[in-house]
Amino acid sequence: MLALLLLPLLWAGSPQDTGLELQVEKSVTVQEGLCVLVPCSFSYPPPWYSSDPVYRSWFRDGDNIYYGNAVATDNPNRAVKPHTKGRFLLLGDATTRNCSLSIRDAKTKDTGTYLFRVESVYSVKHSYEDNKLNLRVTALTQKPDIHSPERLESGRPTDLSCSLPGSCEGGRPLAFSWTGAALDSLAPDTLVSSAITLTPRPQDHGTNLTCQVKLQGTRVTTERTVQLNVSYAPRNVTISVFRNGTVLENMQNTSSLPVLEGQALRLRCAADVNPPAHLSWFQGTPALNATPISSTEILELLRVQMEHEGEFTCRAQHPLGSLHVSLSLSVHYPPQLLGPSCSWEAEGLRCSCCSRAQPAASLRWRLGEGLWEGNSSHGPFTATPSSAGPWANSSLNLRGELSSGLRLSCEARNVHGTRSGTVLLLPGKSVLGAGVVPAALAGAGAMALFSVCVCLTFFCGSRQKPWPDSPPDQESPAGDAHPPGEQELYYASISFQETDGREPQDQKARGTTEYSEIKTSK
Ligand SMILES: *[C@@H]1O[C@H](CO)[C@@H](O)[C@H](O)[C@H]1NC(C)=O
Ligand SMILES: *[C@@H]1O[C@H](CO)[C@@H](O)[C@H](O)[C@H]1NC(C)=O
Ligand SMILES: *[C@@H]1O[C@H](CO)[C@@H](O)[C@H](O)[C@H]1NC(C)=O
Ligand SMILES: *[C@@H]1O[C@H](CO)[C@@H](O)[C@H](O)[C@H]1NC(C)=O
Ligand SMILES: *[C@@H]1O[C@H](CO)[C@@H](O)[C@H](O)[C@H]1NC(C)=O
Ligand SMILES: *[C@@H]1O[C@H](CO)[C@@H](O)[C@H](O)[C@H]1NC(C)=O
Ligand SMILES: *[C@@H]1O[C@H](CO)[C@@H](O)[C@H](O)[C@H]1NC(C)=O
Ligand SMILES: *[C@@H]1O[C@H](CO)[C@@H](O)[C@H](O)[C@H]1NC(C)=O
Repeated sequence: MLALLLLPLLWAGSPQDTGLELQVEKSVTVQEGLCVLVPCSFSYPPPWYSSDPVYRSWFRDGDNIYYGNAVATDNPNRAVKPHTKGRFLLLGDATTRNCSLSIRDAKTKDTGTYLFRVESVYSVKHSYEDNKLNLRVTALTQKPDIHSPERLESGRPTDLSCSLPGSCEGGRPLAFSWTGAALDSLAPDTLVSSAITLTPRPQDHGTNLTCQVKLQGTRVTTERTVQLNVSYAPRNVTISVFRNGTVLENMQNTSSLPVLEGQALRLRCAADVNPPAHLSWFQGTPALNATPISSTEILELLRVQMEHEGEFTCRAQHPLGSLHVSLSLSVHYPPQLLGPSCSWEAEGLRCSCCSRAQPAASLRWRLGEGLWEGNSSHGPFTATPSSAGPWANSSLNLRGELSSGLRLSCEARNVHGTRSGTVLLLPGKSVLGAGVVPAALAGAGAMALFSVCVCLTFFCGSRQKPWPDSPPDQESPAGDAHPPGEQELYYASISFQETDGREPQDQKARGTTEYSEIKTSK
């Protein structure tokens, strides 16, 4: 017994001398419930008998190394503490000089100092007192990891898994539970597994997904929350209309937007999509490789013109799909007026008036003090209105006697303004007063009407061309539109002349006022 006690003392001293060395980390920290592998190697002198087996044991420092229980041992003659049994494991074997210790399901009570010892029957009995292992078990702060593919795509079933780093097989069993708005369609019993299959929806983008891990048989839990990043194709593309810098309205697909000519218009397209889509604007419906008029979400028209009338489309382009939304721009403007123009016919004086406006104007006539609207046919007066699109025409037939100096006005009116033109029947060598209209005069009138009609047809017939004959002030933006009811002067005059056999194209240039002159003024 004394020999046994003395033996280690005799061997004490410089380890290099004795060939008894141990290499292990001085201090190891592990979180409660988790596992740790403590690498360790040692050396001892070759046994005296090769058949003399060397056993390894780890002891809690301070425990009796002769009679006490080890925390881990491969010595069949030694008992292991129940507290560490199955949790502290010796790895490798003595012949490879391996003293590595695997610790599972660490418990707070495991905190302490540990001592390694080798024993054989005949040769070696040694505790490595110089290199002890200091084990510290701290509270569990480790969070689980949620594993998911880099991209979550709407509608695509995706496997997600949860794991607790530091846990190990054979350690404390873990209980998983998943929570999150994205999981509301999954069966509850699938949410207690470490792996789930989720089919994300657009509305799941940005929602929180939590995996909670509980160490079974304890109250210890830990959890991780991630924000889902779900890619999805554009949906709910909307167009916002800005006027004067403020959002006025959000337009639905294919809706119509009335805009006053000359106004500034700013349209902004927005799409519910992730990641952001490429937004661009087209006039009309975009063909496959059409060039956009704007490659951003903003379309700006500094001055809305009549040519802008029609469809504007916003395209949201995205790897997962594209979407179009369009609105129809309806350019509104106050009436533009041509006429009235008058000519002598067999039945009397015939005057025409033509206007272009959006919305279409209503036309009315003023004869002296009288006001005639629509298609009235009273007394000497027959007005025939017609309208198509932005155009409105009215022609008037005056029968019977007309006093000279008579004012005849045509008035075009819509919500944006009123325009009127006046014809003044000037006193001439008037035969009107006598009530006689010679046949020759009627013929001349017919020729004059011809030239008026050419003009009217050109104006009223060419709808794409804005207003070729309009006076300059009619180009002015709507901002300086004339107040309703304002009269305008037309600087045109039409002369009726004697039939003298001249070519019609010469008539205007050489016109004389033989019978009466009709001046268009305003
Ligand atoms: C000890 O054995 C374990 C398990 O076989 C091994 O992982 C480790 O590398 C060994 N250590 C040494 C120092 O040989
Ligand atoms: C989502 O999780 C983050 C971080 O965990 C949290 O700050 C946020 O309030 C959560 N949002 C919702 C809607 O629960
Ligand atoms: C979501 O994922 C996309 C790529 O798929 C990335 O561009 C974007 O920055 C991510 N968003 C967030 C909020 O993480
Ligand atoms: C579409 O987007 C608009 C504006 O962002 C929002 O007000 C509206 O509720 C959305 N509609 C749907 C069906 O998501
Ligand atoms: C825009 O502002 C101008 C002057 O500031 C105003 O006359 C006009 O009515 C405004 N237009 C709209 C649509 O609010
Ligand atoms: C808008 O309307 C057009 C034509 O009806 C249609 O082709 C397009 O898909 C619609 N876009 C949306 C987002 O509903
Ligand atoms: C003209 O007026 C009559 C009666 O007032 C009406 O029945 C008719 O439809 C009108 N015609 C036109 C072209 O407006
Ligand atoms: C208006 O009158 C002119 C000349 O008479 C004619 O050419 C044109 O077609 C008319 N337009 C409408 C809309 O009636």
